[in-house]
Amino acid sequence: MNVSIFGLGYVGAVSLGCLARDGHVVVGVDLDQTKLELIRQGATPIIEEGMETLMRDAATGGRVDVTDDAMDGVQRSDVSFVCVGTPARSNGSQDLTAIRRLSEQVGKAMKVKTGYHVFVIRSTVFPGTVEDSIVPIIEEHSGKKNGQDFDVCFQPEFLREGSSIKDYDNPPLTVVGTDSVRAENVLRDLFGHLPCEFIVTSIRTAEMVKYACNIFHALKATFANEIGRLSQAMLVDSHAVMDMVCRDTRLNISPAYLRPGFAFGGSCLPKDLKAMLYVAKNKDVSVPMLANVLTSNTVHIDHAIETVLSAGKKSIGLIGLSFKSGTDDLRESPLVVMAERFIGKGLDLQIYDPEVNVARLMGANRRFIEETIPHIASLMTKSCESLVEKADVLIVGLNDAAIMEVLVQQSRDDQIILDLVNIPQKDRLRGNYQGVCW
Ligand SMILES: NC(=O)c1ccc[n+]([C@@H]2O[C@H](COP(=O)([O-])OP(=O)(O)OC[C@H]3O[C@@H](n4cnc5c(N)ncnc54)[C@H](O)[C@@H]3O)[C@@H](O)[C@H]2O)c1
Repeated sequence: MNVSIFGLGYVGAVSLGCLARDGHVVVGVDLDQTKLELIRQGATPIIEEGMETLMRDAATGGRVDVTDDAMDGVQRSDVSFVCVGTPARSNGSQDLTAIRRLSEQVGKAMKVKTGYHVFVIRSTVFPGTVEDSIVPIIEEHSGKKNGQDFDVCFQPEFLREGSSIKDYDNPPLTVVGTDSVRAENVLRDLFGHLPCEFIVTSIRTAEMVKYACNIFHALKATFANEIGRLSQAMLVDSHAVMDMVCRDTRLNISPAYLRPGFAFGGSCLPKDLKAMLYVAKNKDVSVPMLANVLTSNTVHIDHAIETVLSAGKKSIGLIGLSFKSGTDDLRESPLVVMAERFIGKGLDLQIYDPEVNVARLMGANRRFIEETIPHIASLMTKSCESLVEKADVLIVGLNDAAIMEVLVQQSRDDQIILDLVNIPQKDRLRGNYQGVCW
């Protein structure tokens, strides 16, 4: 395939070398004359394991050329990869100057190019940038239409500096954000051979995936370091601890607890987090990330409550009261916090939870109800149907097949449904549906 690569930094130079190695004809475009000259001579513009050989082979193979002329790059290729920098400004915002300027240049090139072209954005850009900034600029300067004369898609780059050639050949996933089958097929031809899943999604989702991955990596490193500092202060071997944490592939290194949903609660997570924060304080160990976990959880509960209150309705039906489906444990349940807040606001609240039978509750659970929400028994109904019939707002905090069936059968167009559990049958519900964070 004839490929052009715009921006020959870490991402662009590795892609240029690897695509040429894989048999494609590649033209690299950059404004930096030093980088262009190095590549012409078969040298590498970046220090990376394996790059010297890769670039020497690229130069001798006769399939690589470089230029500083964007027009030339677009003319000589069918597909362009955009790998220019998107650095942070001093206030943290993303500086899109380079990618906007480049969009203008390739737009002008498209004005005179005959034939279809695919632009693949590989620079990290926040969701909406491709559709709201890049596409309009290219359309304006080319006078042509996205989805017709050309396609712009987004493919997040997952390589890490230091192991970028290995990562290029062995990515965790290939993610392509596009709604164009033509563009998808071009990318399948280029990357379909890689030993990983090839996932096609919307452009916005693909843009967000890159951020979610990088933020998750930052979060993981900080978590391990905060557990490290806590362990050190308590004379515990932090490597042994984290090694065992990582060996649990059922609850720890797994999709568990990684689905957007409602706030966490229950008798263990908040209690143990608070206990460890108390130890940290006593031992003068600063753990700012862990110290803010409960604050974030409270913000999540407040967000759900605000969503309900802003609807301005009086009659609220809360489905679920325990802290998660499949238990009657009410301690530290975020749904109890919600119920309390609605009672405080004088709203007409009804609660249905088939797993919580107040008459049968004993011990700590019963004490919790009596001390925290003593009127709970009078607010609980045994009939999900009657709750659904009376409520203006339905809050679904329990994932249960029988409840879902009642909702599918009985929900009405005039009701607001706030989903805390990602209802599988959401498309079959009537009413004004809203997910808590989706
Ligand atoms: N470095 C990484 O490991 C990595 C990994 C994944 C994603 N990314 C993302 O990829 C993008 C590129 O990162 P990088 O580290 O390769 O950047 P870099 O700063 O090393 O390289 C960017 C290159 O783009 C060139 N450039 C700027 N404007 C240009 C224009 N109009 N025409 C042609 N060339 C132009 C610059 O001269 C420079 O050589 C960023 O958005 C980054 O966030 C980087």
